[in-house]
Amino acid sequence: MKVFLAAAALSLFAAAAPPPWQWSLPRGIAPPPVPPENPMSQARVELGRLLFYDADLSADGTLACAGCHEQKRGFADGNATHLGVHGDPGRRNVPGLANVAWLPRLTYADPSATTLEMQALIPLVGERPVEMGMKGLEAQIGRRLGANPCYRRMFRRAFPQGRGRIDLAGVAAALAAFQRTMVAFDSPNDRFMAGDETALSADALRGKAVFDRVGCAVCHGGRDFTDAAYHRVEAVGGRDPGLAEHTGQQVDIGRFRTPSLRNVSITGPWWHDGSASRLELAVRRHGKGAGLSARDMGLLLAFLDDLTDRTFLADPQFSRPDRACGKPL
Ligand code: HEC
Ligand code: HEC
Repeated sequence: MKVFLAAAALSLFAAAAPPPWQWSLPRGIAPPPVPPENPMSQARVELGRLLFYDADLSADGTLACAGCHEQKRGFADGNATHLGVHGDPGRRNVPGLANVAWLPRLTYADPSATTLEMQALIPLVGERPVEMGMKGLEAQIGRRLGANPCYRRMFRRAFPQGRGRIDLAGVAAALAAFQRTMVAFDSPNDRFMAGDETALSADALRGKAVFDRVGCAVCHGGRDFTDAAYHRVEAVGGRDPGLAEHTGQQVDIGRFRTPSLRNVSITGPWWHDGSASRLELAVRRHGKGAGLSARDMGLLLAFLDDLTDRTFLADPQFSRPDRACGKPL
């Protein structure tokens, strides 16, 4: 009897311990950093995916993260800016989310947004601008989601220590875990870098040489085409103070974090305010892009086009879930 009980207790324990997270990354790519207080698990990722598509996380139940971040556009949207739930005009263009897990600095100009957990609070409860509008409504998150037995089960499984608590911090943690899985390494350029010499078209290959020759890679360098640093790339004139809004420093006026160029040809319109309606215009607005010949520009655009990972845009792991807790939604 005693032996039997001990075995039963052991197997209960085993059932509670989540299986270790398995990254599925191409050879040679190390997993992204993960904050120790938010370890990856299947349960957290599944919950985060459901939350990413759930408009109940907005004040009036109309705007999910996915309302601005659409998978088929690399998780950007096709607008210059996007209205928040209360009609506040957006201030900045919606960026794509491919490989955000590796970005050490998030957003165009908020140096305090260094983790996906912190960043998620900006759309949820931020006020400049109001996006999802949950400031002051934090307590409703537990009530709204908790009304659904499926969410109660998913939160218990995702946060075994949380005893079923559903709150803003848990929502942000699950969203971060899901976004860390938004991995894109299957563009023609990725395949070329992995050794497939035929992956880039002849024009794209020449465009890659132009990209390096004229110094684009000085800022858009590395695997994700960003140094994650802040630069001013055109004469200050816009209304957006950029980094200066946070630092108060004159020198930071008009400085923005270099955006990643992954999927860039489909994440338009471009620029921090969406004011570049064509990719070519975004390139020409740089000092280094201004003087390019028409031929070099054409080659460069062919290269930028080959930074698009079409697998990522249709990967069912990131799509709107059609089931939750095994039931159709
Ligand atoms: C109203 C539209 C809107 C909604 C809703 C929205 N976002 Fe965003 N998101 C943006 C904009 C605009 C930015 C860029 C803000 C900036 O740089 O100042 C952004 C930036 C980001 C970034 C940083 C990407 C980078 O390259 O640094 C992440 C990550 C992100 N959003 C995730 C989320 C998550 C998670 C949610 C849901 C909780 C969400 N967003 C909801 C518009 C939106
Ligand atoms: C000095 C650093 C730097 C150099 C060099 C540079 N960029 Fe940029 N790039 C940036 C920054 C910063 C932005 C964001 C500007 C903004 O939105 O205000 C940007 C924006 C862009 C965008 C728009 C991205 C988007 O999602 O809106 C494209 C495309 C781009 N750069 C391509 C290039 C190309 C091609 C070159 C070479 C001709 C180049 N850049 C050289 C820093 C740089």
